[in-house]
Amino acid sequence: MDTHLSREITCCPVDPTKSVTSLTEDVVAGLFASNKRLPPKYFYDDHGSELFDQICDEPEYYPTRTEDALLESSARDIVGRVKPDRIIEFGSGMSRKIRHLLSACSELEYYPTYVPFDVCDEVMIKSGRELVEKFAWLNVAPLSGDYTAGLGNLPIKGECNLVIFLGGTIGNFSEEQGVMFLSEILEVMGPTDRLLLGADRVKDPNVLHAAYNDVAGVTAAFNLNLLEVLNRDLGANFDRENFEHYAFYNPTKNQIEMYIMCLHEQEVRFDKLRRSLRFREGNVICTEISRKFTREQLEDMLRQAGFKICAHYESHLPSFSLVLAAPP
Ligand code: SAH
Ligand code: TRP
Repeated sequence: MDTHLSREITCCPVDPTKSVTSLTEDVVAGLFASNKRLPPKYFYDDHGSELFDQICDEPEYYPTRTEDALLESSARDIVGRVKPDRIIEFGSGMSRKIRHLLSACSELEYYPTYVPFDVCDEVMIKSGRELVEKFAWLNVAPLSGDYTAGLGNLPIKGECNLVIFLGGTIGNFSEEQGVMFLSEILEVMGPTDRLLLGADRVKDPNVLHAAYNDVAGVTAAFNLNLLEVLNRDLGANFDRENFEHYAFYNPTKNQIEMYIMCLHEQEVRFDKLRRSLRFREGNVICTEISRKFTREQLEDMLRQAGFKICAHYESHLPSFSLVLAAPP
């Protein structure tokens, strides 16, 4: 018999339907500009993905625990409403929280295929193996690619797809990008498909600040790992000692802003670009924003993208939201 344990999990690439910029292009456009920035997807090489997993366990980083508990308490309701035959997860990472949905599926006797979709193949395979050990019935079919590269080739099949996008990752897009991204998802969804969106809420700035400045320094290591990615992939020579993690909550924009800041002047070479760049004391590279929402803002964003709201599950202290949304 073909047991799931003996079946190898392989990642199926999703071909882009939009032109995507390469690391070289993003660096030329983003670092050689006066307002320096880089897209967040470059954080997640194998080492970066490991560091992110550690962030999730840091005592100050409440979003993972909070969303996990919220999913645990709402999973039966969600599965009962959607009756999914596929669960597609954008930016699935270690696929930890999916366990609650899969347990609810087992209890209610639905047996969906799980389709993680991420840029990091290694974590999808590793976590996929762990999942099939726990859920013997489960078929895991990972998709590897960049979800910002267009969803036209996303193999959405079957009657009832539950698309999930957790971790507050929607907040890593700007307001405009966020609405656009949600409308792209809506465009590939069928009438009985549902979206489950997890998003972090506006709250005490001190709680937010601490979450992105953990005392153990894991977030700092994660942020600065981006310099190692540039050193490795572009033959750059960033000296980490010259740079520092700098993150704060901007209450006028309801967002965490994360930077890599230059402490000591350095001329950085990029061998593969045959260019160099001088970083001066106090220069910053914006590496991530993480927007926080009120309940109303979150529902408005979904409605603007064309969704209708089916259910809103929320936790308090710390506040976090899971919204189940449907095509109009
Ligand atoms: N959903 C998990 C992980 C969130 S971290 C959680 O809630 O904890 C964001 C995840 O999205 C990482 O696993 C990263 O590899 C993935 N990711 C980031 N940008 C991406 C992109 N453009 N395309 C596909 N995956 C991406
Ligand atoms: N989606 C996560 C968030 O906005 C991503 C994240 C958490 C992150 N901590 C980080 C990204 C540190 C970069 C650096 O909370």
